[in-house]
Amino acid sequence: MNTELLHKYSGAVPRYTSYPTAPHFHEGIDIGTYRRWLGDLGHRNRISLYLHIPYCDRLCWFCACHTKHTLKYEPIAVYLEAFKREITAVGALVSPDAVVSAVHFGGGSPTMLRPEDMVGLMDCLRGHFTFGLAPEISVEMDPNDLDDGRYDALAAIGMTRASVGVQDFDDKVQKTINRIQTFEQTQSVVDAVRARGVHSVNCDILYGLPFQTCETLERTVSQIVSLDPDRVALFGYAHVPWMKKHQSMIPEDALPGIAERYRQMRMAGEMLGQAGYRTIGIDHFARPADNLCRAAEAGELRRNFQGYTTDTADTLIGLGASSIGRLPQGYVQNMVATGEYQRIVGEGGLAVVKGIELSEDDHLRAHVIERLMCDFSLDFSDLKHRFGKASHSVRAQAQHFAATDRDKVVRFDADIFAVTEAGKPFVRNIAAIFDAYLGNGRGRHSVAV
Ligand SMILES: C[S@@+](CC[C@H](N)C(=O)[O-])C[C@H]1O[C@@H](n2cnc3c(N)ncnc32)[C@H](O)[C@@H]1O
Ligand code: SF4
Repeated sequence: MNTELLHKYSGAVPRYTSYPTAPHFHEGIDIGTYRRWLGDLGHRNRISLYLHIPYCDRLCWFCACHTKHTLKYEPIAVYLEAFKREITAVGALVSPDAVVSAVHFGGGSPTMLRPEDMVGLMDCLRGHFTFGLAPEISVEMDPNDLDDGRYDALAAIGMTRASVGVQDFDDKVQKTINRIQTFEQTQSVVDAVRARGVHSVNCDILYGLPFQTCETLERTVSQIVSLDPDRVALFGYAHVPWMKKHQSMIPEDALPGIAERYRQMRMAGEMLGQAGYRTIGIDHFARPADNLCRAAEAGELRRNFQGYTTDTADTLIGLGASSIGRLPQGYVQNMVATGEYQRIVGEGGLAVVKGIELSEDDHLRAHVIERLMCDFSLDFSDLKHRFGKASHSVRAQAQHFAATDRDKVVRFDADIFAVTEAGKPFVRNIAAIFDAYLGNGRGRHSVAV
């Protein structure tokens, strides 16, 4: 890879897990708007639920998630009371004909919940929403938390996918990021969930961590492959200490530079490819039999706040502090601070404090950006079919970009605008040309590669 190109495109751009992106949410969208939007959901709507548990019993220095460190269970028990109140209030506003097809428990560490609380939370969801047959139930798992009682509870709630956080197995890297986790510990989690009938296992790993080199990462990737996960998520470490104070514990002079990050990303991707995984979007890898792979091949891959997904529900309801929901009308976000979240929920059950209503132009650009991030291409005949003349402005932007693209990062033939192999690492930057909000000063992002 030509380093000039890397530096040219090394600018900070959004990860486009939504469009418009979260920095553009505003307080004009409130509980009243949310109540109206939920009430307007038709009986044909399919719903997925995202539940956020913002607690961890360890605090990893690299972590950019909304979470709080606690060794006591009491704050979690208090939080769960508010959580159930929110579930009850949201459930009462959603038509019983709208069916839940997927549930994702994220955090923080949902695996910190006591077994009886995991089961109680699922019972509460089932009591307030209508579930479809065989919903997908995925859980983010911190191997540090797990014991037989928790494995059994996860099996009892019907977990279909375990998403196991690994990051890196190298001792020095683990010490520097304050996340000690042995290979054996990780393997026992994979074995335990499989023994309980969970057929889909995902492992998260990171590149670009302090003291990480291609050599150390190569060892980590080999160990991951030996666990035979169905999916692997390979994220570039996002260093955002201005947002996450604990990241200032990471020694910046030990962070790999942009060219080294790129080498690590390529090397890990190639190793996964040789091990039989297919590349999905910018940072996921899946076995050919995995439904993520099948969705990608059928052009049905989707992108949401959890990354790449096969979830085609048109409504994502976010529950818990900081959760973001996506409704056909727009995005909503709950209060981030857990104490304030509990107070607001205590008053009326809902906790939305900001969001954005989607204009027609937003719908069009959201679709364009999602397709680029998922398929690396745009079909303008399809876009015209869906959005009519409104698609012309996007076509003109694509044509202008392709005509002035000396780096050959895109191709525009007939109706197809496609990102080339050379352009794939920079698809976030290419998507950014269609972002009508970028450049208005809101939001500071991590580097693209
Ligand atoms: C919300 S965390 C929850 C996982 C679980 N608590 C654990 O640690 O195993 C989900 C994933 O986000 C990723 N992540 C967290 N902070 C990140 C950062 N600064 N840059 C890139 N990825 C990050 C990690 O790979 C992590 O496994
Ligand atoms: S990586 Fe997981 S365990 Fe570590 S602080 Fe973040 S959410 Fe908690």
